[in-house]
Amino acid sequence: MAAGIDDIAIYIPRLYVDAADFAENRGLDPVKLQKGLGVSQMAIVDANQDPACLAANACLRIMQKNNLSPDDIGRLYISTESAFDESKAMNSYVIGMLEQVYGQGSFEHCGGVETKFACVSGSYALYDNTNWIRAGEAEGKHALVVVSDIAKYDMGSSGEMTQGAGAVVMLLNDKPRLLAFDPKVTATSIKDEYDFYRPFGKETPIVHGQYSNLLYMIQVRKALESYKKKVVSSGLIKMEQGETILDHMDYINMHLPYSNMGKKALAYLVRHEWRQLPRWKKILDEIGMKEPIPKDPRGTIESVLGDEEFMAKDHEFTKLFTKTQEYQEVYESKLSSSLIASTMIGNLYTASLYLGFRSSLEFEYQKGVDLEGKRIGFGSYGSGSSAMVFSGVVQPSYKEIVRDMNLESEIGSRKRLTWGEYEELHENKLSPEESIVHSNKEFILVHIDTKKESRGERRYVYNE
Ligand code: COA
Repeated sequence: MAAGIDDIAIYIPRLYVDAADFAENRGLDPVKLQKGLGVSQMAIVDANQDPACLAANACLRIMQKNNLSPDDIGRLYISTESAFDESKAMNSYVIGMLEQVYGQGSFEHCGGVETKFACVSGSYALYDNTNWIRAGEAEGKHALVVVSDIAKYDMGSSGEMTQGAGAVVMLLNDKPRLLAFDPKVTATSIKDEYDFYRPFGKETPIVHGQYSNLLYMIQVRKALESYKKKVVSSGLIKMEQGETILDHMDYINMHLPYSNMGKKALAYLVRHEWRQLPRWKKILDEIGMKEPIPKDPRGTIESVLGDEEFMAKDHEFTKLFTKTQEYQEVYESKLSSSLIASTMIGNLYTASLYLGFRSSLEFEYQKGVDLEGKRIGFGSYGSGSSAMVFSGVVQPSYKEIVRDMNLESEIGSRKRLTWGEYEELHENKLSPEESIVHSNKEFILVHIDTKKESRGERRYVYNE
């Protein structure tokens, strides 16, 4: 039975910090953000928004757009790493909000949990719900998988320039108009790591940025190795001599904590894949330098990062590699369109891979590319750490969805924050009634209880 993504919707908060303002106020070169990281604007939540609001707003959009009633939905999963409760799942808040519009008890039949594994948890949720459909358990109903996050880092930290916020919701069913997932090829890797984590009670994460960059690429590569084996053994793809699995992916969507991380990760994967192939000799000739090897090739991530000579040479080699015509062709045709939304919105943690997927569809379609039958590969990564590689094929009816995609109009009119407003929001100095923009036809947070017996209870309303 086919199963996959029928439709996709986004909700992005309308406030943003501009990279130029950020650089000026943090004493940085704006080119570092814009060119070095690929960050132009970072979406920021208002004082009356939390990750549950973002998720509920995205859900309402997809339900209204598809004329769905709660009876059509069998499962609602939320994946986030911005949870604000240790026990009550974010789904229940979202159901509570949706029932303000659809009627009390209207989602009573609907199951679901909140899933957590840093940025990769949404991919696990997609996989589990796809299998729920494949197993015939859905009985004609759809699943909603929502990925919703607020990427917020400490003031003055190096992570602060890679913030963002938003939610993406995917409607899954057995007749997907957009993308059918390839069966029996989803591959994972997992390892106990401390590259990025958020201990109980801490609002912002503890991050080892460069370590997490390298770990991300290593883990995705491991998952890709396992994906390759599955693809060949299941007979999904026949690999000819001299080919790599990446040749069989028309598009590659990577996890995007900032848009240039997609470029970095693609270059890493392509380089490792091509190294085994006859074409590598020509590439090395073009680059004009030998591929550097760390002093301790079997060393740890720390030892590789600490090998300054290797790191400098590897950086130089990567830069030259990414300038080769062969790599440029892969980059332009398979990845570049997926990065556009990320530069405008920033990091969405769990949602960034799927914002990239949506971006790729919209901007490739605008180029006039016929997407029917194209295979899309996904490289998902979550710190802590786990990676997942999987793929799907764009369905014949994709145009019904993609022709109406318009990122700018879906984000709506945006307000560029002053530095003072940004700092006040970051330090949680504003109460919900002091929100910066007035919301219309949206769920907003109106109150968080502080009384001993009801501490942490949240109240939301739908602003007509
Ligand atoms: N002009 C142009 N480019 C510049 C520049 C300038 N003035 N200054 C720096 N750059 C480039 C660097 O060369 C680098 O590019 P490269 O990766 O292609 O070499 C890029 O900008 C980033 O600079 P870097 O010095 O590596 O940044 P940093 O160490 O200060 O911080 C992160 C970068 C990503 C580590 C940091 O923002 C972070 O910790 N983010 C959160 C964690 C995260 O996102 N992890 C990803 C895996 S999940």
